[in-house]
Amino acid sequence: MPGVVASFCMSLDGFVARPDDSVGPLFDWYQAGDVEVPMVGYPMTFRVAAASAEYLSAFLDSVRHSAFVCGRRVFEHTRGWGGRPPGGGAAFVVTHRPPPADWPADHLAPFTFCPDVGSAIERAKAAGDGTVGVSGPSIAQQCLNLGLLDEVRIDLVPVFLGEGVRYFENLGSGKAEFERVEVVAGQGVTHLRYRVHHP
Ligand SMILES: NC(=O)c1ccc[n+]([C@@H]2O[C@H](COP(=O)([O-])OP(=O)(O)OC[C@H]3O[C@@H](n4cnc5c(N)ncnc54)[C@H](OP(=O)(O)O)[C@@H]3O)[C@@H](O)[C@H]2O)c1
Repeated sequence: MPGVVASFCMSLDGFVARPDDSVGPLFDWYQAGDVEVPMVGYPMTFRVAAASAEYLSAFLDSVRHSAFVCGRRVFEHTRGWGGRPPGGGAAFVVTHRPPPADWPADHLAPFTFCPDVGSAIERAKAAGDGTVGVSGPSIAQQCLNLGLLDEVRIDLVPVFLGEGVRYFENLGSGKAEFERVEVVAGQGVTHLRYRVHHP
């Protein structure tokens, strides 16, 4: 069981988004092949190269009964995925603020708002099969610092963004150790998967 997993598409220079939060070419590989892989929970189909299809399908299978934790910016940037968060299970938003008052009730229905990362992860573990998908790099960083992250996935895209939102920063003493479990060479992307050990 993968446990608490962070998975992001990242540029060679370490960014997961541009300063305006757009992902530019980082998601191109999701539609660059001819093998269809349906997203779990959200109504979207990826079309990827064969090597990526196997990797992505295995990942989506592993989170099929998971819950999901994201930060407030990702939640607002995606408009709460229109009320259908990835994974299709329970979803938890870490935020200092109350839910948006002017959103339709069905957009908000799957989400529980939590005041800190630790309680969000704990509740998410209890809500699904114990597997938790983490979205929002700041939440992933806090999970690393709190010793709560079990797996780091990087879909490494060979471009430089130059500036923007980093996957890895604010990492305190950086005591975590990473064990490589998988490397897959796709087309326009290299998939990296590490088990995290917190000494
Ligand atoms: N490349 C990819 O695969 C990928 C995937 C997903 C997202 N992204 C990118 O990731 C970016 C957003 O991620 P982000 O890390 O900047 O933001 P985020 O984690 O989504 O949200 C940060 C916000 O969450 C709340 N928060 C975070 N930690 C908290 C805590 N400990 N206690 C209470 N509230 C807390 C705060 O909001 P409040 O104080 O306002 O409540 C904070 O401003 C976007 O640019 C998006 O495009 C990229």
